[in-house]
Amino acid sequence: MLIKNPKGWQISENLATPERHYLGRRAFMGGMAVTGAALIAGCDGGGDAVAQDENTQAAAAASDSGLYPAPRNEAFTLDRALTDEEIATTYNNFYEFGSHKRISRNAQALPLSPWDIVIDGLVEEEMTISFDDLLRAMPLEERLYRHRCVEAWAMAVPWTGFPLAALVNFARPLSSARYVQLETFENREVASGQRAPGYPWPYIEGLTMAEATNDLAFIATGIYGREMPKQNGAPLRLAVPWKYGFKSIKSIVRINFSENRPHTFWENVGPREYGFWANVNPEVPHRRWSQATERMIGTDEQVPTQLFNGYAEHVAHLYETTNGENIYY
Ligand code: MTE
Repeated sequence: MLIKNPKGWQISENLATPERHYLGRRAFMGGMAVTGAALIAGCDGGGDAVAQDENTQAAAAASDSGLYPAPRNEAFTLDRALTDEEIATTYNNFYEFGSHKRISRNAQALPLSPWDIVIDGLVEEEMTISFDDLLRAMPLEERLYRHRCVEAWAMAVPWTGFPLAALVNFARPLSSARYVQLETFENREVASGQRAPGYPWPYIEGLTMAEATNDLAFIATGIYGREMPKQNGAPLRLAVPWKYGFKSIKSIVRINFSENRPHTFWENVGPREYGFWANVNPEVPHRRWSQATERMIGTDEQVPTQLFNGYAEHVAHLYETTNGENIYY
């Protein structure tokens, strides 16, 4: 297959779209929505209003399921205020639906039912399980996590879900498995971004087995005490808060165990810009911008970035042997 990689500058411009442009426009459109909702419904600017509406409907359905809200795990709380729900659900990175932040409306085209997840590779028995069956087999809890994008913005998000370790356990990997590879759906009919040239779909991410079974690695199925909205990665996505957000792959359809390190999506797109490890580190700048500080979305507050995004006590031990490679990056 011929893969045309976009040039480095194209990638990072997209990845680094300054949110003030978006928020400024969004605030403007929000003002319009009050006076002219019907007028904007069919145009680009109406997307958020429509998505919010759909979120509300999804939330009502989810509360009927009795699964949300789930009990909070008090071991994972935060020393910063939660990001406003409306911001976290309308300011998104989900390249399958566009290389900008305002994909929440486009993402509503993603069909969620049926949703099957293939578990294969180095496992005792390969299987395909429906999301509903998987959900029934997993204990749900809520955790408040920092969420830090490689673009130097940050949020604080209440995820609902279950430890990735529980899913690994359920999958029964062989002792020869060294990596977990996670894969997003591929559906060019609904995902306009997958019709655009230049990206090596499907989106793939990976962790070592030690990372995947670390207590912090979480599979999120909900957010803000509700079922996961499509734009945030429904029906299930990863949350690995000590790593840059691009590791937290959305809308997972395949979990593969292997001996070999996965070739991840962003590594394939820009190997000099986005590494496999992607651990948050204030001292390792991105090739074109500093990672020393981060900006809280919603308040614009600039705060110092913390090593491992503040989770060093949970994960630093995973990276003590480096065989010469800078695996903090
Ligand atoms: N997963 C898929 N499949 N496609 C993507 O484009 N973007 C990543 C990550 N997971 C992405 C993805 C990036 S760059 C970030 S910062 C987070 O999702 C954003 O998650 P959020 O929109 O819930 O904040």
